[in-house]
Amino acid sequence: MALEWDAASYEELADPMTRWGAEFLGSLEFRGDEVVVDAGCGTGRVTELLVERVPEGAVVAVDASEAMVEAARRRFAGDERVRVVCQDLLELDVGEPVDAIFSTATFHWIKDHERLFKKLAENLKPGGRLAAQCGGAGNVARVQRAAEEAMREEPFRRYFEGWEDQKEYPDPETTRARLEAAGFERVETWLLEKPTPFDSVEKLARYLEAVILRRHLTKLPKSEHSPFAERVAEKVSSQDGPLMADYVRINMLATRKEA
Ligand SMILES: C[S@@+](CC[C@H](N)C(=O)[O-])C[C@H]1O[C@@H](n2cnc3c(N)ncnc32)[C@H](O)[C@@H]1O
Repeated sequence: MALEWDAASYEELADPMTRWGAEFLGSLEFRGDEVVVDAGCGTGRVTELLVERVPEGAVVAVDASEAMVEAARRRFAGDERVRVVCQDLLELDVGEPVDAIFSTATFHWIKDHERLFKKLAENLKPGGRLAAQCGGAGNVARVQRAAEEAMREEPFRRYFEGWEDQKEYPDPETTRARLEAAGFERVETWLLEKPTPFDSVEKLARYLEAVILRRHLTKLPKSEHSPFAERVAEKVSSQDGPLMADYVRINMLATRKEA
């Protein structure tokens, strides 16, 4: 089942993802008339920048979270060039194959990258491009360590029995091999470190609750969401070094094979 999001909090707190999305988008070339899928559009902050890059084209914004889709639909209401679709990317079907698929901060929420990449290839025209950025090997390792400690403590311990994290933070070699196996060529994959500082433990806790710990929170009653995020933030603050989320991104560029 799709993970639900608090769209209002994400919209407010997504500055890091929007910044990296803008930077990544700025490194890409577009003719301007392409039809592009934004795979995992969230509330549409980065989608908005993508729409500007294809002034003669169109964007299909896809997300599995109803709250995110509703927010994106509000953002693009009246814009005929943007279609917002509520769909799981593992079942992606946008109708006519598109010229390009763009994605930021999404693929690491999906465990099965082999299947994901096959679905993406199916929805691209031969020669169509994939440009995606998501969490890569080593992503938020310090935060993960803090979360693992908090999960073992009271009163949270009992909720995490049998917990398996469904996230996937792949390395460049594995991602390259998966993309090639799914029918892509001219594949480039690389990691980037994006350490993201926070002014206070409170701000980090709010951010963890709205973004990084979304899946953890599905195991907890609502009343424990903020206490858990606060415990994790305190643990991050007691680690050596500055208060930060130690983000690592993986970029992937690939072209769907012609035949
Ligand atoms: C962190 S947000 C990123 C949103 C936006 N791309 C950005 O960069 O700000 C991750 C988004 O991926 C979506 N997502 C995660 N798994 C998905 C799936 N299997 N199918 C479709 N969307 C998914 C979530 O619902 C969420 O809106």
